[in-house]
This record gives sequence, C-alpha cells and structure tokens, in this order.
Amino acid sequence: MAKPAKLAVTNQKGGVGKTTVAINVAGALADRGREVLFVDLDPQGNATENLGMMEAYDEQPPSLFNVLTEPDKRDAITEITRTHPAMGIDVVPSNIDMTAAERELTLSRRGAEQLALALDGVDDAYDYILVDCPPNLGDLVDNALYATQNVLIPALAETTSKRAFELLHDHITMLEGDYQDEDLSIREVGVVTNRIDVRKKQAKEMVDWINEAYPDVPVWEIRERAAIQRSLDEGASLFEVEPECDQREAFESIAASLDEQFGMAEVEP
Ligand SMILES: Nc1ncnc2c1ncn2[C@@H]1O[C@H](COP(=O)(O)OP(=O)(O)O)[C@@H](O)[C@H]1O
Ligand SMILES: [Mg+2]
Repeated sequence: MAKPAKLAVTNQKGGVGKTTVAINVAGALADRGREVLFVDLDPQGNATENLGMMEAYDEQPPSLFNVLTEPDKRDAITEITRTHPAMGIDVVPSNIDMTAAERELTLSRRGAEQLALALDGVDDAYDYILVDCPPNLGDLVDNALYATQNVLIPALAETTSKRAFELLHDHITMLEGDYQDEDLSIREVGVVTNRIDVRKKQAKEMVDWINEAYPDVPVWEIRERAAIQRSLDEGASLFEVEPECDQREAFESIAASLDEQFGMAEVEP
C-alpha cells in the first residue's frame, strides 16, 4: 500500500468533540472498507476509554510514552497496537504514563518529530491514520501536526470557537515557520461543527461564520444526539452501536470527502 492519508483531529478547546468526531470518522472510514490506524495522543485517554480499551490505559510499559520519548523503543508501537474487535480498526491507546510525555518532549531534541518517526515504521498497512489530540497546543499536538500535516477541526457552533480557530491558525503558522527548511505545510481538510441544536439561532450564525472564514474547506454539521453518547459509552462508533442514528450520514459524507481529497481509489464492493 502507498503511504496513508494522515490527519490530526484537533482544537485546543476541550469538550468540543475531537474524540467523538475522531471515533466516528474512523467508524465511517472502516465501514467504507478502509484500513484505519487510530492514535490516542491525549494523556487523558478519553478515546482509549470510548473505544473500550481502558485496560490498556493502565498497562505497564512499554506504552505510547516510551514510543515517543525513547528512540530505541520506537518500534514498540507495533507491540502496543491492538485491533478493535467491533470496528476492525487498529488502535494505539493512550496510557497513564502519557501525562509525563509533554514535558519529556519539550526537553528533547526534535521533540515534535517523534510521532512521525514512530508512524514511519507502520505506515504501509493503512489507508488512514487518525490522531486524536489533547485539548491544548503543546508538544503532543505539534507531534500530531508534524506527523499528519492535515487537520480536521471539530468546533462547537458558539462564538467562543472564533478565538479557538485563530489560536490554532496562529499555532500552525508558527510550526510551519519552525520547519521552513522542510517546507512543512499543514492543510485544513475540514471543519466539523458539533452538537448543533437547530433551535438555537446562535448555532446557525456560527455555521455561517465558519463557512465564510473557511471558504475553501468543507464544513460539516453534527447534531446533538443521545445515540452518539450511547455508542461512545459502548466503546465504539455509531456504525457498530447505533447504525440507525440520523447522524450517520454526516460522518459518511466526511469519510467520502476524505477519500476524495486524498485521492483514494474506490473500494471493491
Ligand atoms: N454530537 C454529540 N451529541 C451528543 N453528545 C456529544 C456529541 N459530541 C460530543 N458529545 C459528548 O460531549 C463530550 C465531549 O466530547 P469529546 O468528543 O470528548 O470532546 P473533546 O475530545 O474535544 O474533549 C463527550 O462526553 C461526548 O459524548
Ligand atoms: Mg478528547
């Protein structure tokens, strides 16, 4: 297989739906027959928990922490990767030790490049690598941005999101500047406005604002649904747990757009 499409699901605000979007986009891609590797880069391990792999979070080393902070443990990424039984995706879980990763990476040389180096060894097996980011703009997120060079941005349809977009944009510009000699260029593949309550006027105004702010980028809308929460509680995406949910289509169209943007060939039926 050629090199996979890689994307970071990122926004420095917490609770906007990064993990929810990452898991359901992974579900939609797997449903289309894509081979997906999901990386939980958040030391809080919400995705690891919402993928029903909480036991991995407390497991003894090696973990993703060692993979990112000890060059001679980089290859352990294959050892810690596990297959999600219902979704059929591979997952690199987070771990309690990841809480120390940010500090270690800040102190280390080429601290932003460690995830890229680790993924280099496993790339070939996948069509997509999705990285679920922590809610900040620190060294772990830099690792995600550098490794993927593509961002999918979940955001709430609230005015506070404007500031979050600005901060992310400035941060990306800064990182690109740091890697000018490599021509690092990080692309926005889409914005996912999440938890939309169609009864709220503010939601509509924000979706309009986002569409204007990102004229060349697809903007999707995901509604607030109990079924989305339920599937996360069950440790999988809508596609396995709540396939009748009306929001399934929105995630399907995100997956279809990604296939198109990354030039993926049709999957054999
Ligand atoms: N569209 C939605 N409908 C219902 N609940 C949602 C929706 N999106 C997110 N949630 C809930 O909101 C909480 C925060 O979402 P999460 O994806 O964990 O945000 P983040 O990763 O950005 O911190 C989660 O408990 C999740 O179940
Ligand atoms: Mg999260």
